Amino acid sequence: MVNSLSHRDSDYLEDEKTPKEFIERLSVGVEGFDPIIAGGIPRGFFVAVTGEPGTGKTIFCLHFAWKGVLDGDRVIYVTTEESRESIINQAKMFNMDFEKAIDNEQMIIIDALMRSKSDEWFLEELDVDRLVEKIIDAKKRLGYGRARLVIDSMSAFWLDKPAMARKYSYSVKRILYRWDFTTLLVSQYAITTGDAFGFGVEHVADGIIRFRRSVKRGALRRFVLVEKMRQTPHDTRMHEIEIIDGVGMRVKGPVDLRREDVSLPEDVMRRIKEAKKRSEEEVP
Ligand SMILES: Nc1ncnc2c1ncn2[C@@H]1O[C@H](COP(=O)(O)OP(=O)(O)OP(=O)(O)O)[C@@H](O)[C@H]1O
Ligand SMILES: [Mg+2]
Repeated sequence: MVNSLSHRDSDYLEDEKTPKEFIERLSVGVEGFDPIIAGGIPRGFFVAVTGEPGTGKTIFCLHFAWKGVLDGDRVIYVTTEESRESIINQAKMFNMDFEKAIDNEQMIIIDALMRSKSDEWFLEELDVDRLVEKIIDAKKRLGYGRARLVIDSMSAFWLDKPAMARKYSYSVKRILYRWDFTTLLVSQYAITTGDAFGFGVEHVADGIIRFRRSVKRGALRRFVLVEKMRQTPHDTRMHEIEIIDGVGMRVKGPVDLRREDVSLPEDVMRRIKEAKKRSEEEVP
């Protein structure tokens, strides 16, 4: 009896190991980041990237997109905050040749900011249904196969109706799942701890990667924390990151910080609380 139990135990342990090994993970392309999430983002995941302005969300996404190009994935990058040119130029600073990837029909940047009609890859209006249609058109153009999608950011789509954020995110996730996308969805608002707030995206997302910053002794420091990654034994420590000209983002290592070291400035907290109140009032 004891023997058979221990035999079953070891079978169980074997089984425990297999799911981890079976999950296909996509490397993020940021030096030092993959080990934090057990090797990469599981294929098909819909991951929220959040944080305050200038913390590195866009640069993180550029790496993810470029790694896709290097790995032979189809890559679609939706930009609502910066023009296509701005994204291309920022990437160039880190030796990522997005123009070449576009010419090689491996990447499409959908410009939802400038909305110039110079080519077909722009978005006339900030409408979620149009966005999804455009993304699917782009995927069809790039062809069959594993794909990476970045939406930087979704916040613009629900600025005037924050209560819809969760619904929008859910419908985007549901539709895009069928198209073999692994998605990074940037959300500009920090998801605060305690009085949790984040327009509901965090519940829909399979993962949350949160960027933060602090000024210590007159110097800006940036950090990243994986707050959630389903099916992943991820590192729960905050890691310091750096952005180096000509190189890009790099994880320096885990840090031991107190909460007040990285808490949001008071006026930001106040604005978040006000927006939250407004969004609650909108809910029928
Ligand atoms: N070539 C470079 N070398 C070093 N640091 C750079 C370089 N280019 C940009 N940065 C740094 O990266 C920051 C911008 O990062 P990023 O655009 O990823 O922020 P973000 O989180 O997307 O902000 P936002 O919410 O405003 O879009 C700049 O403020 C600057 O500090
Ligand atoms: Mg940005």
